Amino acid sequence: MKVVIIGAGVAGLGIGWRLRQAGCSVTILERAQPGGGASWAAAGMLAVTAELEDSPEPERALALRASALWPAFAAELEEASGRAVFLNQGGALLLAGDAAELEVMRSRAGGDLRIVDPAQAKALVPLLGGSLGGLWSPREAHVDNRALAEALTIAFLKAGGVLNPNEAAVRIETRGGRASAVLTPYGRHDAGAVLIAAGAWSGLLEEIPIVPVKGEVIALSPPSGAVLPGPVVWGEHVYCVPRHGRLLIGATVEEAGFDTSVTQAGRKHLRACAEKLMPSLKSWSLSDHWAGLRPKSPDGLPLLGGTATAGLFVAGGQYRNGILFAPAIAGEMADLILGKATVDPAFDPRRFLGDLHE
Ligand code: GLY
Repeated sequence: MKVVIIGAGVAGLGIGWRLRQAGCSVTILERAQPGGGASWAAAGMLAVTAELEDSPEPERALALRASALWPAFAAELEEASGRAVFLNQGGALLLAGDAAELEVMRSRAGGDLRIVDPAQAKALVPLLGGSLGGLWSPREAHVDNRALAEALTIAFLKAGGVLNPNEAAVRIETRGGRASAVLTPYGRHDAGAVLIAAGAWSGLLEEIPIVPVKGEVIALSPPSGAVLPGPVVWGEHVYCVPRHGRLLIGATVEEAGFDTSVTQAGRKHLRACAEKLMPSLKSWSLSDHWAGLRPKSPDGLPLLGGTATAGLFVAGGQYRNGILFAPAIAGEMADLILGKATVDPAFDPRRFLGDLHE
């Protein structure tokens, strides 16, 4: 089968790689550069504990499936691409903002997760100022998302996939009620199946209700002699991720259309939140500042599956967890497109879509 994928983020690349491994002919059309959207802007956290506590069960289950797949997925991808993805399973410390939050954290403790008092928190992260302690998640992980996208690009190409950067899809054609081709300014790509995996841009092509949610991130470099935290640190409105000698601090959350400008207000807010947790960050220098667009659906859950148009699929709406979900979405969406699996009804795109090509 010939599959045309719209979007070369970690979702489109991962699914494309799996489909190539299954023997499909796969072309990925990318409006800009591969891995250049949310896959580039993310901080790469696989934040099962920190970001999914309030999520509905199907999403938590997806997160846990993905988290379990990550070590083998990273190893397979590194082998296939010859590139490191820097999977770091150094844990995450979730600091309580007040006594009420600490009580909620107490109710979550158990298994791997344990409550730490202020002294234990400081032993885990010596840069901390005063804290109330919080929840310690020793296996929480993160990955270098930019290296991940590069590795997926290489693995996909080495597997025989075709990747066309700077080629935006402008229309999906149907024949006899089936998706049959994708049209671009440069030509026509016939397809047995079409997958939209275009992140925040997914809704521009079809009536897919995904909106961009802007997030600004800054990077701080330590003065000489200062040591980065080992684990990821979460506090009020902020997370801090050690990455290649810098501390990434994110992220703002704002619906601002497709605006990816960086702002002084965003920078000040992120610095202030991080310095409240770790006062010595005041002497660290700002080394980078960027913004990206998370793809969000109306109910905040992913859209994973087919549409009412036969042969037209969507993998979108990953919102804050696209990097975490990547290994599960790669395998599960490939199986779905091959007709070997069904979709979890909670993620079925048809909960929002009529027949796109009526
Ligand atoms: N998952 C991190 C963020 O969305 O900011």
